[in-house]
Amino acid sequence: MRYRNRLATLVLAALAAGLSVVSVNAGDAYTQHCAQCHGESGAGNLELGAPNLTGLSESYISRQLSGFKAGWRDNRDLQTRTMTSAIATLDDNSLSAAVAAIARLPHQKAKKTAQTQSGDLARGKDLYTAYCSACHGTNGTGNDALGAPSLVGLDSDYMNRQYRHFVEGRRGFHPDDRYGKQMARLSLAVKDPNLIHDISSYVVQLPF
Ligand code: HEC
Ligand code: HEC
Repeated sequence: MRYRNRLATLVLAALAAGLSVVSVNAGDAYTQHCAQCHGESGAGNLELGAPNLTGLSESYISRQLSGFKAGWRDNRDLQTRTMTSAIATLDDNSLSAAVAAIARLPHQKAKKTAQTQSGDLARGKDLYTAYCSACHGTNGTGNDALGAPSLVGLDSDYMNRQYRHFVEGRRGFHPDDRYGKQMARLSLAVKDPNLIHDISSYVVQLPF
């Protein structure tokens, strides 16, 4: 509960910071609407649970934004609620301008979490190659034709949390979420949190 309060305080601080950002650079939809949580560089914010956006394709990001609005991610997590309410009042033009601005940001490396690379990298590599690379690519850079996002650049906390959500049916449950449903089915291939952590420890150290 103390953690939740701290997170809520951080979220309020981030939203307040956003208000001052608006006056500095109102021209860029990303700076105006997203940077207070995902960072000026797009590299994300571990404390808020806001992921690095700079490795993600425009088509993946646009689909996720529609998905947040349509309730494709279960709102039980404060992180999901935070993101859903952050864009709730933004119209399609502002959102597509933000997506275009993200595409212009240089790639940022994955942030190191407390647990980053504490996993078994050799086992993570074997599991990744066997169960993930067919869709997310040998180098982790994703495959838009399959709807599979790049995983390179994501921090291991975010990756582990999202993976768990697929396993638990908290993401990929909505009838219209075609790609989410695919990933939810696939997530059942590896359910042990230790093994998932091995995979994310391997993925975060892949070159960008
Ligand atoms: C108040 C903080 C906040 C603001 C403002 C915000 N986000 Fe987020 N965003 C988050 C958090 C926290 C998450 C993680 C959500 C989750 O875990 O379900 C997230 C997740 C995302 C994701 C999912 C990434 C993935 O890998 O699937 C995308 C895309 C995204 N945000 C884009 C944006 C864009 C574009 C804007 C501006 C129009 C924006 N966000 C504004 C906090 C924010
Ligand atoms: C059959 C293809 C397929 C396989 C195999 C697959 N995935 Fe996915 N994965 C997807 C698709 C498609 C999405 C996008 C889901 C969406 O749009 O919400 C996804 C999304 C994800 C996400 C969410 C990323 C984000 O930015 O929020 C993570 C994490 C992930 N996959 C990890 C894995 C891991 C780890 C494995 C191996 C154990 C794996 N996936 C195997 C297709 C696949």
